[in-house]
Formats: sequence, structure tokens, C-alpha cells
Amino acid sequence: MNRRGVLYGLGGLAVAAGAGAFAWTSATGSMADYEAWQTRLRAVPAGPPSIPDILRYAGMAANGHNTQPWRFALSGAEAGIAPDLSRRTPVVDPDDHHLYVSLGCAAENLAIAARAGGLRTEETGADENGVRFAVTATAPQSTPLYDAIPRRQSTRAPYDGRPLAADTLKALEAAAAEPGVRLILVTERARIDAVRDLVLEGNGAQMTDPAFIAELKAWLRFNPDAAMKTGDGLFAAASGNPVMPGPVGRLAFDAFFKPGSENAKYAAHMASTPALAVFFGEAARPANWIRVGRACQRLALTATSLGLKHCFVNQPVEVAALRPKLAALLGEGDLRPDLVIRLGYGEALPYSPRRPVETTMAG
Ligand SMILES: Cc1cc2nc3c(=O)[nH]c(=O)nc-3n(C[C@H](O)[C@H](O)[C@H](O)COP(=O)(O)O)c2cc1C
Repeated sequence: MNRRGVLYGLGGLAVAAGAGAFAWTSATGSMADYEAWQTRLRAVPAGPPSIPDILRYAGMAANGHNTQPWRFALSGAEAGIAPDLSRRTPVVDPDDHHLYVSLGCAAENLAIAARAGGLRTEETGADENGVRFAVTATAPQSTPLYDAIPRRQSTRAPYDGRPLAADTLKALEAAAAEPGVRLILVTERARIDAVRDLVLEGNGAQMTDPAFIAELKAWLRFNPDAAMKTGDGLFAAASGNPVMPGPVGRLAFDAFFKPGSENAKYAAHMASTPALAVFFGEAARPANWIRVGRACQRLALTATSLGLKHCFVNQPVEVAALRPKLAALLGEGDLRPDLVIRLGYGEALPYSPRRPVETTMAG
């Protein structure tokens, strides 16, 4: 081919690549638009938060599969968070354990944000109907945990291995203190490795369960447009994965989401992790799961305020047969473990989506 032919050839390739990139981006939406959307979702109020801001902050809580299974009410002297049972995940969470823990996480955010907005909340009930509060006026009090709410994220990535200082561990322990809830912080490598083995065993069991995979897939959002459209679910980029058009993402998921590669990823994440937080509630029922959620959210916000990242590796509590092994390993033989959380220092990932606050209101 002569020079002109080469130039035409290269020009043609560039046009094709440009057209391909354009088609790809129009099928996924752009990360720049997604970041701008997140900036609005997570905007920090200029002064004390209004009631819509308080509910928006409540909805930024950690929650299983990011289904946001809650309905909020806040008016006059009362507030409530009811379960939204249309957002259950019956395969991974058949007894709604994660759902009630998630309500507890949201309850903690709501109480912290309400306080910043000049409202004191006193819990008056917590059970299978959710959480209820009496609300009274007080002086607005902004705290480091309030500041951490829009910055907290589950960071499913390797950490840098740097150990947590003794006073950091002490602060996490103090933050999670809650009647009826036990927290075990694991920092010895041999015990972290033993928990890792249960995470891998649980992951292997889940990934060979077609019902688990089908449920998970229904909550995956492969690109910014899909995440912004539903405002819920597990956004690929928030788990450190590339964004793709939906049909390509589903094919790639079937082709590449395999027990071997996922277990290798989890093993590397655990090897980079200097501390684990494992929660045990003293009873296995909604009221206690809500308490665990409140303690967990305070731990996560405290970690965020101290510059730490965290994420959940709950396989050993989701696969019921592994719970007694995890409890025995940590010397809590009679209790049901509720949550396993990695803690460490590392880089942030894109934030998870959230639904508009209006769609999370009761009534
Ligand atoms: C009860 C509960 C269980 C969870 N289990 C897992 C888990 O096993 N693996 C995981 O990667 N994330 C897990 N998460 C984290 C959620 O997926 C995450 O909170 C949600 O996607 C919203 O993202 P964010 O925490 O970054 O706001 C869990 C969260 C809660 C509250």
C-alpha cells in the first residue's frame, strides 16, 4: 500500500474507532454525567439540614445489594422507617436479616442528620414493622459523623495493608458500642486468613447457586445510565469494574464472573486488609438486627471520618452452614454472626447510586 493508502486506512480506522466510542458511550451514558449526578445527590446543605435533606442523608446508609428497602416518614413529633418488602432479596437474605440491618443503618443516619438539623430523636420501637422515633426540637449539632454521611462508601478494592493504630481501633470499638451487640475487631494475620477461608468457601457456594446468581444479576447496573435510571442496585464502577452497555455487561458477567477469578480477587483483597470488624447480635430477630445496623453504621461513619475505607465480605454469614464455623473461630460459639467488614486505607471508588428522596417516602 502507498503512503496515501496507509493514511486513508488509518483515517478510516480512527473514524471507525470514534464511531465505536460514540456508540458505546451513547449505550452506557458518561461517567462525567454520573459524577455530576452524585454531586447533587450528596450535596452538603449550607446550614442545618432541612427535613428532605435529613431523609436524603438517611437514604445514604449502607444496605444489602443497594435495594434501599425502606420507607421514611418524618413530620411533627414522630419519625419512622418501615420495611419496603417489595425490595427484599429472598435468595441471599431469606429471613430478611440484611433488610433489617439496613433499616438500622438508615436509622442511625437519620438520627445523626436530624440532630444536625435541630431535631432530637428517641427510639420508641424497633421490630418487624421497622423503627419508630419520638422527635423533639433541640439546638442543631453538627458532628464528624454527620460530615461523614455523604462521603461514606463501601470500597470493594484492595487496601494498602497499613495497620490501624491502637487509638483508631479504640475509636471504632467505642463508636460501635450498642446494647445487645458485640463487636470483634480482628487484626492478627492468622485469624484474618482463617476468616478469608470462610469468605472464599461461602463465595464458592454462592457462585455455583443459579438462584443466587439470578438474584444478583437483577440488581447489577452495568453502566452510568442504568444506575441513574433506577437509582439503586450494584453499579459496576462502584465495585471497581468497567462500565458496559447492558447486553454486553450481561454477556461479560456470564463469561467472566467465575468462582476461581472471584475467589482470587477476594483473597487479594483480604491479604491487603489489616483489620476486620465482625458483629454478633445477642438474639436473632428484627429488633436485634436493627441494633446491629445502627452499630455498624456508626462504625462505618467513624472509619470514614478517620480516613479509613471499609466494605462488607458477608459470605460467611449469608451461607448459613458457615455461621457456626465463623462464630467458633472468633470464640462466640452460641451466637449468630451478623456482619463481616474489612477495614483499611486505600483509594476511593465511584459512589453507589441512590433513589430520589420522594420515592423513599411512606404513604
Ligand atoms: C446488611 C448488609 C449486607 C451487605 N453485604 C454485602 C456483601 O456481602 N458484599 C458487598 O460487597 N457488600 C455488601 N453490603 C454493602 C452494600 O452492597 C452497600 O452498602 C450498597 O451497595 C450501597 O453502597 P454504599 O455502601 O457504597 O453506599 C452489605 C450491606 C449491608 C447493610
